[in-house]
Amino acid sequence: MRFRGLTIFVTGGAGFIGSAVVRHLLDDTDAFVVNIDKLTYASNLSSIPQAAGNPRYTFAKVDICDAPALRALFDRYQPHGVMNLAAESHVDRSIDGPGEFIRTNVVGTFTLLQEALRYWRGLEPARRTAFRLLHVSTDEVYGSLGAEGFFTEATAYQPNSPYSASKASSDHLVRAWRETYELPTLVTNCSNNYGPYHFPEKLIPHMIIKGLAEQELPVYGDGQNIRDWLYVEDHARALTLVLERGRVGQTYNIGGRNERTNLHVVKTICGLLDQHHPSNLGTRERLIAFVTDRPGHDRRYAIDATKIESELGWRARETFETGIEKTVKWYLDQRSWWQEILDRGYQAKRIGVG
Ligand code: NAD
Ligand code: DAU
Repeated sequence: MRFRGLTIFVTGGAGFIGSAVVRHLLDDTDAFVVNIDKLTYASNLSSIPQAAGNPRYTFAKVDICDAPALRALFDRYQPHGVMNLAAESHVDRSIDGPGEFIRTNVVGTFTLLQEALRYWRGLEPARRTAFRLLHVSTDEVYGSLGAEGFFTEATAYQPNSPYSASKASSDHLVRAWRETYELPTLVTNCSNNYGPYHFPEKLIPHMIIKGLAEQELPVYGDGQNIRDWLYVEDHARALTLVLERGRVGQTYNIGGRNERTNLHVVKTICGLLDQHHPSNLGTRERLIAFVTDRPGHDRRYAIDATKIESELGWRARETFETGIEKTVKWYLDQRSWWQEILDRGYQAKRIGVG
């Protein structure tokens, strides 16, 4: 079995992608997982049902900006690898309040690198050679594409939002700690994820929940912006593969080759809701409203995933059509998961208009 006897730190393991990584590690490997999360608004420990009573799982409520707390965790658990997914992740929030993005994404990554370096330097040679720190990043660091072309690992960074600029900064720090101090790091840059346990501020769950409530479906601008969608469980598998077999110092782009316009995504969700949860009032498409565009809205993202596919043999299993149907059904079946988020005060209001 993979990762037998190995301890892996997952930061941000109570978030959307981090929880998928933790579920995958618990279900499909023998790893001992330490989930390190500050528990911000975006977190939800109930996203890891298999954690309850699992002897291979432990949780630490720790901020990645807190060096002494990180140091205590490294000393206590002696990890073989670190997967850094702790971040502020929502572009619209970064427009209204960039400070928290700089704090967690930049200062937090810096703090984690410093503590990992300190720990790594103290390891005996075999453990030091095997240690890996995988930093999970985004395709948004590359900026916006025109109608043609793809982001490759060689594409120059050109971040346009406070969020993507903070992620780009963190990627540069990770690279520098590798080049300067030889800390064995890897970076992944992934496209838009979707799937179960996604906080409802993001496009897909936002539209599902609004559509079910018969509320307006706010499409920014003309709805022709393109995102390259990847089912979150495909991403989680890619990440553990990169941790296990990726080449130190390398970047791997991860994407599902599923480019869709936002309008297409929203109309697909409307169709699935109409099919699985019909409304007496008619098709949900009547709820679509074109609203003020996001400032600095990137037009198109598209990932060239050739490197991870050819080097590591990874392939996305879900197409957009199979993944979105699973996702809509999940939100219909797991209403209590997202209803609890609404009950604790999340209002799903428009933010980030500058
Ligand atoms: P998320 O917002 O759902 O979860 C982030 C998690 O990090 C939360 O549990 C939160 O409590 C935790 N966290 C935030 N600040 C922290 C801090 N200072 N210390 C410890 N924990 C903290 O985010 P996500 O969508 O799961 O994204 C995870 C990572 O993947 C991020 O780095 C993001 O940039 C990257 N990414 C996301 C996507 C996507 O489509 N969601 C795509 C590519 C890359
Ligand atoms: O590309 C990877 C990135 O994908 C990740 O790094 C980010 O963490 C993640 O949030 C996501 O960023 P986006 O900005 O692409 O995702 P979001 O769900 O916010 O928006 C997707 C698209 O939908 C975008 O073009 C804006 C648009 N949109 C979004 C919302 C919430 C709407 O038209 N209406 C909406 O209500």
